[in-house]
Amino acid sequence: MPADRNAPIGIFDSGVGGLTVARRVMLDMPEERIVYFGDTARAPYGIRTKERITAQSMQIMRFLETHGLKMAIIACNTICVSSYYELTGAFDVPIMEIVSPAAADCVNGSPPAVKVGVIATAATVKSEGYRIEIHKLNPRAEVLQKACPDLVTLAERGLAESAAGALQCEIYLRSFKEARIDTLVLGCTHFPLFYGHIAAYMGGNVRLIDPAAASGAKVKKELAEAGLAAERRDKPEHAFYISGDPGTFEQIARNILGKPVRPEKINICKY
Ligand code: DGL
Repeated sequence: MPADRNAPIGIFDSGVGGLTVARRVMLDMPEERIVYFGDTARAPYGIRTKERITAQSMQIMRFLETHGLKMAIIACNTICVSSYYELTGAFDVPIMEIVSPAAADCVNGSPPAVKVGVIATAATVKSEGYRIEIHKLNPRAEVLQKACPDLVTLAERGLAESAAGALQCEIYLRSFKEARIDTLVLGCTHFPLFYGHIAAYMGGNVRLIDPAAASGAKVKKELAEAGLAAERRDKPEHAFYISGDPGTFEQIARNILGKPVRPEKINICKY
């Protein structure tokens, strides 16, 4: 049966980071309805094994599938590099990853990237996913990578904009600044929450790549090509689900999306 163009798009992450992708979808495709899941009780994912990340992502997709999705977006670089093929092999609904659009955005920039820094989780760095995708497009680009796990912890605690957030960005980015990178990929969806600190520290000559931007454009194009873009409608009703406690999530979501959300806590282990 062909998918319903007015069915929702599922967006998921280990926690609050995927809201940076949800925000982009809301901006670029305001008529689309979103069902968001953040696995806040089991974040961070970036320190876990590929097997565990895959098993947990399968549960998330089984849960999201109950909402009759027309598309799912893995709004988590760690899940993309660890489990994309397992997920696409297990579910019929189209599943979008966000790493290759970000790599393309990075390489096709103007001026083109020559020396690229990638900040991400330990799992993403270990997978070499960004290096591989960037080198597919420009084998000569130099790619430096750094795992920044403490940024995920700060973001999940709602402290991205704090002085501690600024200090941690400086500590992680010092070697990239000294190496004079020209492009920095924010290779974890939690990291755009530190955008102000990162931009201020790296300065105007370093181009920052937020995977949400290129992924949003790709989702829009794919939906249009498949005839699945939603009909015009005012204020589609989004739904937010999490596995942990709503308090901090509500506060962070309000900051990111600029409006209050009422997340429902669910037992994801049932799926
Ligand atoms: N937001 C996730 C990413 O894009 C992972 C954060 C984590 O749970 O470690 O990689």
